Amino acid sequence: MPNLEGKVAIVTGAGRGIGREHALALAQAGASVVVNDLGGSVAGEGSDATPAQTVVNEIVAAGGKAVANYDDVSDFAAAEHMIERAVERYGRLDILINNAGILRDRMLVNMSEDEWDAVISVHLKGHFAPLRHAAAYWRERSKGDDDVRGRVINTSSPSGVFGNVGQANYGAAKAGIAALTVIAAQELGRYGVTVNCLAPNARTRMTEMTFGGLEAPEEGFDPLDPGNMSPLVVALCADEAQDITGQVFFVWGGSVNVLIPWEDGELFPSDAKWDADELLAQLRERFPEGAAPAGMMAMMQKAGGQSMRAR
Ligand SMILES: NC(=O)c1ccc[n+]([C@@H]2O[C@H](COP(=O)([O-])OP(=O)(O)OC[C@H]3O[C@@H](n4cnc5c(N)ncnc54)[C@H](O)[C@@H]3O)[C@@H](O)[C@H]2O)c1
Repeated sequence: MPNLEGKVAIVTGAGRGIGREHALALAQAGASVVVNDLGGSVAGEGSDATPAQTVVNEIVAAGGKAVANYDDVSDFAAAEHMIERAVERYGRLDILINNAGILRDRMLVNMSEDEWDAVISVHLKGHFAPLRHAAAYWRERSKGDDDVRGRVINTSSPSGVFGNVGQANYGAAKAGIAALTVIAAQELGRYGVTVNCLAPNARTRMTEMTFGGLEAPEEGFDPLDPGNMSPLVVALCADEAQDITGQVFFVWGGSVNVLIPWEDGELFPSDAKWDADELLAQLRERFPEGAAPAGMMAMMQKAGGQSMRAR
């Protein structure tokens, strides 16, 4: 395992599920960890200090270093406080894992304004706010002689990169997070910071419905164990990964796909402005069966190659 001794990490939403596994794995690799979690419901209602504190207790009991933090990542000032807390407590910040999230699924025709706003806020602003404050911190450090090796790992979703029915709010936020990753990687490289992104798959309280039919096997490897997501996080945090940035990693079980972003697909070249009739005729000719997205499950099977085997 890469040695992260002396590094300081924040993991948001680390009181449960995938974030908890990231926090345990980073601590096991030697990092001091700020375990952030607001502790609300899957829908983002309420708050509770227990999840974050329980993970801190687990890390400390295993001989690691950790402190709890209960800030709401979607609150700009609270996110700044979280970054300051890491620096105050451990003297520095090296790693930011943006992972906190909620769900309020609904078909578009029925989705309320609150359902849209809450999900966009926790995911998209909840990634931007900690990233913004951490980036300012790293820029300051890079002005001195400090050899900054900052790490940001964001959390997108198959829903964001492939699209999923019933998750217009969530998928839009998660697609935004993938775009944020690419832009932040371009902006922060000059300060010594890499920015990457996961599109995870795991059995947690958030996916009980989605993966309901996929129970953990009684023995052997469980592809949906949330712990499967964390080796990639630890690897990307190693000093040796200093030149791997701006990538979105789809992870299913033991398989990791480095996704190819929007590619130039079918080209309809013209040296002049298209005539709409002519362009429509060309579209009909090139797409005799029409053109529509394949859907999330089909794309996941193509990407991971594992989802069929897990069934
Ligand atoms: N489980 C999957 O298969 C899957 C798939 C794709 C993406 N994801 C993403 O992975 C991340 C982790 O999800 P999970 O499955 O572990 O879910 P989870 O519900 O087990 O964990 C999410 C944690 O985030 C915390 N949280 C929510 N809002 C917060 C806020 N405003 N501030 C601080 N903490 C907050 C919650 O209290 C919770 O403990 C999420 O971003 C999720 O969208 C998960």
